[in-house]
Amino acid sequence: MTAVDVVIMAAGKGTRMKSRTPKVLHRLGGRPLIQHVIDTAVALDARRTIVITGHGAEGVEGWLRESSTAAGRASPDFVRQEPQLGTGHAVQQVVPVLPDDGIALILNGDVPLVRTETLRALVDACAGENLALLTVDMADPTGYGRIVRNGDAVQAIVEHKDASASQKAIREVYTGFMAVPSQRLKAWLARLTNDNAQREYYLTDIVKFAAADGCHVVAAKASEQVEVDGVNSPLQLAELERAYQLRQARVLMEQGVRLADPARFDVRGKLECGQDVDIDVNCVFEGSVALGDNVRIGANCVIANARIAAGAVIHPFTHIDGEKAGVEVGEGALVGPFARLRPGAKLGAEVHIGNFVEVKNSTLARGAKANHLAYLGDASVGERVNYGAGSITANYDGANKPAPSSRPTCTWAATACWWRR
Ligand code: UD1
Ligand code: CA
Repeated sequence: MTAVDVVIMAAGKGTRMKSRTPKVLHRLGGRPLIQHVIDTAVALDARRTIVITGHGAEGVEGWLRESSTAAGRASPDFVRQEPQLGTGHAVQQVVPVLPDDGIALILNGDVPLVRTETLRALVDACAGENLALLTVDMADPTGYGRIVRNGDAVQAIVEHKDASASQKAIREVYTGFMAVPSQRLKAWLARLTNDNAQREYYLTDIVKFAAADGCHVVAAKASEQVEVDGVNSPLQLAELERAYQLRQARVLMEQGVRLADPARFDVRGKLECGQDVDIDVNCVFEGSVALGDNVRIGANCVIANARIAAGAVIHPFTHIDGEKAGVEVGEGALVGPFARLRPGAKLGAEVHIGNFVEVKNSTLARGAKANHLAYLGDASVGERVNYGAGSITANYDGANKPAPSSRPTCTWAATACWWRR
């Protein structure tokens, strides 16, 4: 098996986003666009990943270095392209750091939904010796590079702006993904010129060199348009977000999760579900969330970094955010409506947290209840303690917060429990 080296193009400006944030750092499903592409490369077991940066280079490189460290992986390599003279010029910058003996798999930093299997098929089509292009048939191919064939054999890619009227009628277009033997790629890149309508160095011109050199050019077709769609504008970003969420919703529903409406469901991170989980409309899951068997989530809940044990019910309009410390909800607990669980909230089995109750960094033992308008901060609450309406447990007097050892402890069953320094 020939090693695969992934090359990700991410130097372009993204003018149509009209944003100060570099395009590839805009988020889809809670992760920057380019992170999706990197994660796909990781799933492919690529030997090296090289990212071409330009516009917003510091921000893009900084993000990728930090996210690699956080995931315990090596950072990708970076090459800068300044100025940006076209896609061929972009890949020329990679030549000094690209090993000769591998397959270069060229990806786009702003095309987030391509599947690992599709890329694997593209690498297989290259087989270490062919030029493999990922193409797709489009009803309206305006703006894209056309796949020009002679019989079955691919002869060239002609950019829209350079295409003749008959070429413009071709509906098979280049998606921006290719797999190519690196050594041959380097030779073809050295031959690029910019004598075209846009005065750019087109990566797509290597196709005509390959055909002239007798290299077999193969076209693999993408199965789904959304896999190869790029993000150029806020509208396209929102469209791909919905496509991505629908993909995740389908996977969960195939596992048996009951979503009231897959079109009103968002996972911006990882959601694991047990058996017989029900999720009502407009719920958002962020970071890492685990739901046990028979958990029910009411409408309009936002849940981040939390573990919710079997049989618990989260009523509508509840906000749970565990941040780093996490939130734990015990078996059969009832939370909400309108409850707020903050980092370090640990609810035991059958705890009840009702409307307008906020819990932060507090442990509640089995069966404890705070059903109305209460604040539980830095508290250890014993079994079956009942917080009365309006009860407050806080360790902040307006100026000082005592050391954790002086945490208030409520171990008696009382209607109200409050504590001040
Ligand atoms: C390119 C292809 C076209 C294909 C289309 C698919 C070329 C010449 N044309 O079109 O055949 O149908 O993609 O979307 O390759 N980039 C750089 N540096 C540059 C220019 C671009 O890094 O100097 C990056 C962009 O950030 C982007 C990618 O390359 O990630 C593609 O650039 P873009 O301008 O969107 O592609 P097109 O030229 O429109
Ligand atoms: Ca362009």
